[in-house]
Amino acid sequence: MHHLRAAGVSLLLDTRGTGVPGVIHWGRDLGPLSDAELVSLADAMVPAVSPSSIDVPIRLSLLPSFREGWSGRPALSVFRDAPVDLSLELVGVEASGSGTASGIVIRLTDAAAGVDVTTTLELSSEGVLRLRHAVTNTGGSALGVAAASVVVPVPDRAAEVLDFSGLWTHERRPQRQTLGQGVWSRESRHGRPGHDNAYLLAAGTPGCGFGHGEVWAAHLAWSGDGVVWAERSPLGPATIGAAELLAPGELSLDPGASYDGPWTVLVYSDAGLDGISDRLHPWVRSWSTIESPRPVVLNTWEAVYFDHSLERLTPLVDAAAEVGVERFVLDDGWFTGRSDDRRALGDWFVDPAAWPDGLHPLIDRVAASGMDFGLWVEPEMVNRDSDVARAHPDWILGATDAVTWRWQNVLDLANPDAFSYVFERLDALLAEYPIAYLKWDHNRDLLAGSAHRQTSALYRLIDAVRAAHPGVEIESCASGGGRVDLGILERTDRVWVSDTNDPLERQSIQRYTSLVVPPEYLGGHLGIARAHTTGRTATLSFRLATALFGHAGIEWNIAEATPAERASVAEWIAVYKRERGLLHSGRVVRPDASDAAIVSHGVVAADGSRALFSYAALAAPAAAIPTPQRFPGLDPTRRYRVRPLVLGTDVFTLQDAAPAWWEAGEVVLSGAVLGEVGLPMPLIAPENAVLVEFDAVD
Ligand code: DGJ
Repeated sequence: MHHLRAAGVSLLLDTRGTGVPGVIHWGRDLGPLSDAELVSLADAMVPAVSPSSIDVPIRLSLLPSFREGWSGRPALSVFRDAPVDLSLELVGVEASGSGTASGIVIRLTDAAAGVDVTTTLELSSEGVLRLRHAVTNTGGSALGVAAASVVVPVPDRAAEVLDFSGLWTHERRPQRQTLGQGVWSRESRHGRPGHDNAYLLAAGTPGCGFGHGEVWAAHLAWSGDGVVWAERSPLGPATIGAAELLAPGELSLDPGASYDGPWTVLVYSDAGLDGISDRLHPWVRSWSTIESPRPVVLNTWEAVYFDHSLERLTPLVDAAAEVGVERFVLDDGWFTGRSDDRRALGDWFVDPAAWPDGLHPLIDRVAASGMDFGLWVEPEMVNRDSDVARAHPDWILGATDAVTWRWQNVLDLANPDAFSYVFERLDALLAEYPIAYLKWDHNRDLLAGSAHRQTSALYRLIDAVRAAHPGVEIESCASGGGRVDLGILERTDRVWVSDTNDPLERQSIQRYTSLVVPPEYLGGHLGIARAHTTGRTATLSFRLATALFGHAGIEWNIAEATPAERASVAEWIAVYKRERGLLHSGRVVRPDASDAAIVSHGVVAADGSRALFSYAALAAPAAAIPTPQRFPGLDPTRRYRVRPLVLGTDVFTLQDAAPAWWEAGEVVLSGAVLGEVGLPMPLIAPENAVLVEFDAVD
């Protein structure tokens, strides 16, 4: 028996016998059970044998299969000339683990079929379980791999499924349904997770919210095609599963070769969806190589688009420095012939027409103003109208008439020459210029059945760039938030959450993206009043309050903003710099609301000494006087000084008088009271937000 336990989570495997280990339990901690108790439990869990069924008790193993009588989605699917019906024998179980995680490596073989399987499990000190299978061809002919899926049981009370969908500029829209009998399956065939990615599939107790209910959640840590599902059947336990989605015939292993499936990240919480973040955030943070505070960014995209020149950008550099920006990022438009989005992708040389002296004069000015410099690239893509595509049409992935998307095609990174060319270009740029940060974009679906080798090559390319230039930070962008996953985040430092800077959209997109990814990894920028992606106009205060709760930046030509607007932006940056220590290390709390129009979220310091909450009205509230806002997550045993914090000068309220405590400027109450009773809030109009700060006084 193997019982892994950490932070309130147990995984119990029955490793006795000669077959694939059975999964007895994954969920709430079972406590420190003795070996005898573990054996008793495993034996007691052997179910009845039902009529019109297999003649032995059904048992869910780590690799459920026909051989075991499992007729749900199988874990492994391999073939030679015909499907290989695996009969795996347990060869060994070894303890492993990296860092503070405890782990097990399980070795299985089917010598007759010529297949070895290695299953690796790790339970982190935060209670995050991750699991992957590796398949090795030990036979004498090619072995096709159609799937190597992770499948784990969930109890029947996990009867509701939450996952996500979305589209460009509207990523991570939640969707919920009752899990009936059958399979709820979400597949990505974009060659990237995509804007409609399931992201996190959470099976929970009905009605589970941010702060209550039990949840069993799965996330596929992979940046290519993938599938994640929940299955309920009358014939066995309910399960959730995930796998890389492999196209027919895409993956063929020569004798001796192996396929390493991606990690599936599995998280249990008995404290609702916030409990999922409570495990994932510190775990993801533990990978970070960034030690300094996340700098305030200014990105040029919506400010100037392709209109690049020193004259055009100098006022923006100066205005950025004046308000306190710390990193200036030159977006798309800097390379040879890139006058619009129809040409030049792949020609990664600084455009001599726009930049006759290279980027040095711009970067010198940025550096002289006390900022570091970032550069946009899209290394995986080419336009047909580019020197590189004209010279190497064979480097383009897919058919010669492959459909374009944003007038671009994919560069076949699995082609060693194409790979070397892109690496050399990135390496040369990073060697010539003091570039602190790359915004690494990816603006189309692959639409070719080779997502596996392309994604693997992408990972190799990022790894090579990082190895050659270890200090350079990388942001993963894919037309906004089309590639947000824990596979890419193992090798990058931030994600561009969405191409929309409209705060109304961002309130929701950031809220749900932060279920998995900590706020400091989520690029959130202040846009111009009338959002370029929706045409909606928002107050400055709403834009400021929304962009504060991530890795903050600006995507607006503030050289053209009014002095009053710039003063508000400077104040906001000062608040961000003061609060980022808290915002980027604390616990994210999302109070459940009875009124969907009112959305609140906050960050509470790990030691409970301080917190900052946002309170926003996204639409007209259900009641003239909304119910008091509760602030959960504070230390119930401490008292806090609570004060309003208003950013900008244009919060629009509809009240004859503010709540008494707000008018007074502060109130001191216990964390218990603030979490249970809450406080009445100002009557803010739709699309407005205010902040509340909490400081422990004892
Ligand atoms: C898509 C990105 O998401 C935008 O932020 C911007 O970088 C453009 N690409 C540039 O082409």
